[in-house]
Amino acid sequence: MGLKNKLKLAIFISGRGSNMLSIMDACNEPNFPAEISVVLSNNPEAAGIISASNAGIASEIVNHKEHDSRESFESEIQRKLKKHDVDLIVLAGFMRILTPEFIEQWPDKIINIHPSLLPEYKGLNTHERAINDGKSEAGCTVHFASAELDSGEIILQRKVPIKNGDTPQTLAARVLEQEHVAYPLAIKLLASSL
Ligand code: GAR
Repeated sequence: MGLKNKLKLAIFISGRGSNMLSIMDACNEPNFPAEISVVLSNNPEAAGIISASNAGIASEIVNHKEHDSRESFESEIQRKLKKHDVDLIVLAGFMRILTPEFIEQWPDKIINIHPSLLPEYKGLNTHERAINDGKSEAGCTVHFASAELDSGEIILQRKVPIKNGDTPQTLAARVLEQEHVAYPLAIKLLASSL
């Protein structure tokens, strides 16, 4: 028997969607306390959209290139979300910055995964920067989205070592494995508190 009253997720992606797949796998476990209502992509060519469709999950595309302002882009996202039952927005490799106005409409209901141990290495090229700084540890962070980029309250982090000879690619792969553990765990944690 599965759980009733599961947390309804909208997963936002822009590309590959491997984090989305890890959440999808978790949601397929009968006792996982969340389910995916919709996958939304700003990129009509995101591979993750095909994976979602193949799994029979509703998907929506809101192409930012068809909007001349962030406000118009985000209004369209809100319109699409209204078609679905959504408790929590899960940013999983969504590479558009959301405005504070959008975030305020979903207070404590938007989470993000970032490939660094925040507050270190906000923004892009996190692995390259950590290696160049001679760090011995890297990792990923699941956090609430806030008006300031990559700065909301931290839900959980997972660490990996940085090894001699690591390249941004080898480190990214090691961190990504932990992302795939971290995101389902964080969603489970939130489901018990929301
Ligand atoms: C992940 O590594 C995620 O942490 C990162 O993009 C990748 C998406 O991979 N997100 C960011 O850099 C956000 N600032 P995926 O599409 O396979 O889940």
